[in-house]
Amino acid sequence: MDTDRAEGSGLQRMFAGVPSRYDFLNRVFTLGSDQRWRRRAATACLFDRPRRVLDLCSGTGDLAVMLAGSADPGAVVVAADFSEPMLAVARAKAHAAGVAGRIEFRVADVAALPFADGEFDAAGIAFGFRNLTWKNPNRERHVAEIRRVLAHGARFVVVETSRPPSAALRTAFDAWMAAAVAPLGGLISGQGGAYRYLARSARGFYRADEVDALLLGTGFRSVRHHLFLGGVAALHVAVR
Ligand SMILES: C[S@@+](CC[C@H](N)C(=O)[O-])C[C@H]1O[C@@H](n2cnc3c(N)ncnc32)[C@H](O)[C@@H]1O
Repeated sequence: MDTDRAEGSGLQRMFAGVPSRYDFLNRVFTLGSDQRWRRRAATACLFDRPRRVLDLCSGTGDLAVMLAGSADPGAVVVAADFSEPMLAVARAKAHAAGVAGRIEFRVADVAALPFADGEFDAAGIAFGFRNLTWKNPNRERHVAEIRRVLAHGARFVVVETSRPPSAALRTAFDAWMAAAVAPLGGLISGQGGAYRYLARSARGFYRADEVDALLLGTGFRSVRHHLFLGGVAALHVAVR
């Protein structure tokens, strides 16, 4: 199934079919860089030593496990995603890493988060912000809802694919997405629609300065970004 208008139920069905080869394909398609980028996001999330940290669109839980492994003793990580099959993988991963007791898993849609205003001291999202915002009719609602559950002064950290400033690198990135990620991802996972969506959304996604503008436009006080590998991915740190 191809999801172009990235609405909730279509994406939810799509991600329900993805988990089994998801982590393996992430490592292959980022040439082993994705965990390093998540580690940078985890470090940025934990900078102010938060007591309650939210991992949004947690998926198979890589960021949540890093957060739980490095947060202060007594801190709680909440891993939220609207796909129960993805969270099932995350739970098993947290058990294997010995951090399951520090993570609360919640099936939740970012469009209507089941959390109180200002409940979290920090939030992070790894490779889910594109799903929430690209061609998504709920784009502003998603960002406003994330802002709502953050305390004043809390950090919101986004690590996501980006658009390289160099035209040559953009062309190479787009060719990689079209010629490798979409067909091989589909072949190996058996989920052609999901990997065509990944390739299409990554090629159509916003530049890093446009993501910054979106965050500022929805009320975050400040935002800065850092580009990885010439801009194929970016880390954004916004302050509520
Ligand atoms: C590309 S995966 C990223 C997973 C994980 N964070 C990672 O680093 O690999 C995107 C995740 O976002 C979730 N997702 C997409 N839209 C969502 C929404 N509106 N509410 C909650 N989860 C959502 C999907 O179920 C999926 O697990």
